Amino acid sequence: MSSLLIKVDIPMTKKCNVELINETSLEVSAGEMLLDACLNAGIAHLHACGSQAKCSTCRILIREGAENLSPPTHEEADLARRQKFPPEIRLACQAKVIGGPIRLHRLVRDKLDLELMCCHESISSAKSLGCEKELALFFLDIREFTPFAESQLPFDVIHILNRFHRMIQKTIEEHNGTVVEVAGDGLYAVFGLECPMCNAVADGVKAGHAVLENLETFNDTYLDPYFNHRLRVGIGIHSGNVIYGKLGIGVDGALSVIGHPVNLAARVESATKTVNNDFLVTEAAFSRLNDPPLEIEKTDILLKGVTNPTTVRFFGSPYSKSKTNKVKKSPKQTISSPMVT
Ligand code: FES
Repeated sequence: MSSLLIKVDIPMTKKCNVELINETSLEVSAGEMLLDACLNAGIAHLHACGSQAKCSTCRILIREGAENLSPPTHEEADLARRQKFPPEIRLACQAKVIGGPIRLHRLVRDKLDLELMCCHESISSAKSLGCEKELALFFLDIREFTPFAESQLPFDVIHILNRFHRMIQKTIEEHNGTVVEVAGDGLYAVFGLECPMCNAVADGVKAGHAVLENLETFNDTYLDPYFNHRLRVGIGIHSGNVIYGKLGIGVDGALSVIGHPVNLAARVESATKTVNNDFLVTEAAFSRLNDPPLEIEKTDILLKGVTNPTTVRFFGSPYSKSKTNKVKKSPKQTISSPMVT
């Protein structure tokens, strides 16, 4: 039998309003279990383990009125800890209504929801369920890669990109970042999923410097000797409130991050070309650093789709100071990259 962490005395005659958002509203007797209230109202609320707090198919997302539910039972708290549920996720089979109003979403409403929940082991984590959080957003793009790629064999292009992205991803992960998307000659990562914002921007800035340093080694030891070419990149960092969660059909959902700050970060990265500096950090992100470096030059730039000027800090070097790219024009380039893993 489930045991309450706090004993709650509930007047049973009291009626409490429970809104199932986008579905219906119920008048629930105080003291009634949420799952029972739904089932009594003819709502086919999933409860695969039979209210044992073992399956989590009865999970609900509380939007308002969390204080009007009984505290989690030991069993529920244990399952929430193992599944890394945020506090707003409750189990309908363990949560008693003690007051109202309550507004909630049912999270597993049909067979498709159930399949999505079961299709990968991390679907029940906070990331999978969808969260809003301020994150540091990190965009990186290779400068003038297309002319170089067009002069190489397809195998070499893909192998170079695989080696390049592996190096970048490793660097980002070493600095607590998560790569969200790799697309051809560009990459998008976030920092701050598991830490406070000041650490997130600091990690992103450190990762940016490490990427530029590692890129020099990549050029010196691999690309220049084998392909007579040096890659240059542009990096842009911005921070802001975004929505993130796992999307996907199949066995593995991919992390998705959505919001205006994402678009702005991409445009800041793109602006590295126009302001001739390979690493830009917006003032918004810079202001989140606990210990900002002194005397970092800044300027205001106009970004496409953004009405007001955006202040950016120059964290990198001018491209003109970089070792220049040497694009081999011959399409007969036949030096294949060594298969170093
Ligand atoms: S019915 Fe299984 S956890 Fe609630």
